[in-house]
Amino acid sequence: MYTLEDVNTNRLPKHVAIIMDGNGRWAKQRGKLRVFGHENGVEAVRKTVESCAKLGVEFLTLYAFSTENWNRPKIEIDTLMKLLVASLRKELDTLNKNNICLKAIGNIHSLPPKAQKELSEVIVKTEENSGMTLTLALSYGSREELKQAIKEISFKVKNNIISLENIDEAVINTHLYTHFMPDVDLLIRTSGECRISNFLLWQIAYAELYFIDVFWPDFSEHHLVEAILSYQNRERRFGKTSEQLS
Ligand code: IPE
Ligand code: IPE
Ligand code: MG
Repeated sequence: MYTLEDVNTNRLPKHVAIIMDGNGRWAKQRGKLRVFGHENGVEAVRKTVESCAKLGVEFLTLYAFSTENWNRPKIEIDTLMKLLVASLRKELDTLNKNNICLKAIGNIHSLPPKAQKELSEVIVKTEENSGMTLTLALSYGSREELKQAIKEISFKVKNNIISLENIDEAVINTHLYTHFMPDVDLLIRTSGECRISNFLLWQIAYAELYFIDVFWPDFSEHHLVEAILSYQNRERRFGKTSEQLS
C-alpha cells in the first residue's frame, strides 16, 4: 500500500482535478439506493482533500455536480444538495485548521439558496487562508463556461472595452470561472469511465489523464499516491521532442 511518504514532493502536480465518479454503482453493488453511495463519497472527499493539502498540492479541483446532473431524479439532486450543505458546515473548522481556501466554479446561482448561502459563508471565512486552494465545481459545465466567456468578451469588443486584436489566451483565461487557477496538471477520473463529461475542456489541454477502475467511495490515499506516482513517471513534452527537454 502506498502512503504519502512515497511521493517525491519536489515534482508535485501543482493542480490536481478529480472527476469523482461511481457513487451510484458503489451503492448498487451493495444492494442500496444511489444516495447511499453519495453519502459514502463524502468521506473520500474529506480524505483526499486532507492528503493533497498534506502533500503540498497547491490547487485541488473537485467535480461535484455537473450542469447535466440537473437531469437526474429530483430526490437524488435534493440529497446531493443537502450533503453539500451539511459537509460545508461540518468541514469549515477543518478547512481553516489546514489553511485551505475554498472556492467554487460553475453556475452557482442555479444552486438552491441554502447551498449558495452556506457556500459563500465558507468561501468568505476561508478567504485569507494561504495554503491549498480547494475548488468545488458545482453546477459546472465547461461548454457553458466557454459560452459565457465568449459572450462577455464579445460584449467588451462591441463596447470598445477591448479590441479584437488583443484577444489572446490570457484574455480568454481571465473570463473563465477558473481565472484564479493555473491549468490542470493531473486529471483523475474514478469508476473506470474514460471520458471527460464536460469538465474543464480548455484547462486540461496539456493535463496528464489518469483513469482508475475504483468507485469514488473506495478512492483512498493509496490510489491518490498511485496517480501522482504515475504522473511523476511521465514525460510532459508540450509538443517538444524528448531530446529538447533533457
Ligand atoms: C458521481 O457518482 C457523483 C455525481 C455525479 C454527483 P455517480 O452518481 O455518477 O455514480 P455512477 O456513475 O452512477 O455510478
Ligand atoms: C461526471 O459524472 C460529473 C461528476 C462527477 C460530478 P457523471 O456520472 O455525471 O458523468 P457521465 O454522465 O457518466 O458522463
Ligand atoms: Mg457517474
